[in-house]
Amino acid sequence: MNKKIKISLVMLMGVLAITSCGKKETPQTEEPTEATETPSDEGNKPAVSNVLVIEGNDQMQFNTNELRALAGKPITLTLKHVGKIPKEAMGHNLVILQEGTDEAAFAAKAINAKDTDYIPASEKASIVAHTKLLGGGEEDTIEFTVDKKGTYNFLCTFPGHVAMMRGVLIIE
Ligand code: CU
Repeated sequence: MNKKIKISLVMLMGVLAITSCGKKETPQTEEPTEATETPSDEGNKPAVSNVLVIEGNDQMQFNTNELRALAGKPITLTLKHVGKIPKEAMGHNLVILQEGTDEAAFAAKAINAKDTDYIPASEKASIVAHTKLLGGGEEDTIEFTVDKKGTYNFLCTFPGHVAMMRGVLIIE
């Protein structure tokens, strides 16, 4: 009797295993529908706009590290310093570099360019556009056009800020 019970138990488990396998297959057919939802991540990407506004704060941060704009059309970019600390201690600017520029080398030269608000005159050829150096509560708007599609690094060249204040301007 015991053997028969054991055998029937084994058979029952076998049946359960088969049915559970069968059940596992049905969710798999649902997975593609879930996968189609993942492109909604693209909603997190910043909208392409040639009117750009970016903020810098007293915590040495930009409020975004990615900007997007269209090639060949004028771009209006406003940098707002939303903090309160004066520019001597917490100055912010936004400098957009030509593709291929060595950002670390550029930032190193900028540190020594205090007289020109940390914009190194010798590196003008590497700069697409830049704002003024701002203190808390100030803002600056610049206009420029980028003809070539690509990914351009931007940074704040105030000494020490590039470690945290940097990002990319994607021109498409
Ligand atoms: Cu800064």
